[in-house]
Amino acid sequence: MATTIAVLSQKGGTGKTTLTRSLTDVFTRLGLDVVAVDADPQGNLSDYFDTEPDAHPTLAEVLSGQVRAADAVHGQMIPANMRLAEAELMLAGKIGREVTLRNALRDLKRERDLILIDCPPTLGLLSVNALVASDQALLTTEAQYFSLHGVEQAMEVVELARDSLNPELELLGVVLNIANMRTRHARQTLEALRERFGDKVCRTVIRQSIAYAESAERAIPILDYRPDRGADYLSLAGELLRRLSRPELLAPLDELSAELIPAGASS
Ligand SMILES: Nc1ncnc2c1ncn2[C@@H]1O[C@H](COP(=O)(O)OP(=O)(O)OP(=O)(O)O)[C@@H](O)[C@H]1O
Ligand SMILES: [Mg+2]
Repeated sequence: MATTIAVLSQKGGTGKTTLTRSLTDVFTRLGLDVVAVDADPQGNLSDYFDTEPDAHPTLAEVLSGQVRAADAVHGQMIPANMRLAEAELMLAGKIGREVTLRNALRDLKRERDLILIDCPPTLGLLSVNALVASDQALLTTEAQYFSLHGVEQAMEVVELARDSLNPELELLGVVLNIANMRTRHARQTLEALRERFGDKVCRTVIRQSIAYAESAERAIPILDYRPDRGADYLSLAGELLRRLSRPELLAPLDELSAELIPAGASS
């Protein structure tokens, strides 16, 4: 039975898609059967996986009930494009609109180990569907003046999903992402997040690097493009595995890290 994780944030550009792509890669390298779901009509995750732009069917067809989720998996992912925006509008008028994705993913959940859902930059119906379909919510935030507020709002939506339709939903963590820890502002943001949300804030901070944009542009995962930069994601994966009570994967993760990043090469 797959663990399903929704990756979300209250605003755009917090590195959700990059995190989803990178964690899919790390967990796949650990031998897990992972499927990534692009729940954003922008289709950034689909591009990052180098999925054909006209790939069909997509998540839109899954949500509108035309195909099974398993039949919409291309390579490692269920892609999305602008048609997902139409599907979301259609969904809005339907009974059971919040549980559509959960029902659609049921079969896939049975067959795979891990499903990662990349949410759009709004906390609307698609994000709610992702939360209702998930066991865990992983929040991302940038180091910015409004970070705290954004994380609070995202948490409210997580709680709403838990209180109404998905009592099992847990908060896996909050990741400070795209952070330049050389700036005082980023360090203060991290401190404020920890003060406010305690252990929920992941110890691993994903540091800012232009290598991520370059890896997305080339549709190559960060650990293939610049393993030294991607080291943060190995460390985050380790933290998440502990939180998910999967300690048996920590030794393989250590081996993978040693193989990818020879001692001293990490930035
Ligand atoms: N650690 C990082 N350092 C520097 N740039 C990053 C990092 N992670 C992601 N980026 C870049 O920041 C931009 C936003 O990242 P990404 O698309 O992953 O965010 P997002 O939250 O999915 O955005 P949206 O809300 O629009 O879906 C992209 O150009 C991406 O390449
Ligand atoms: Mg995105």
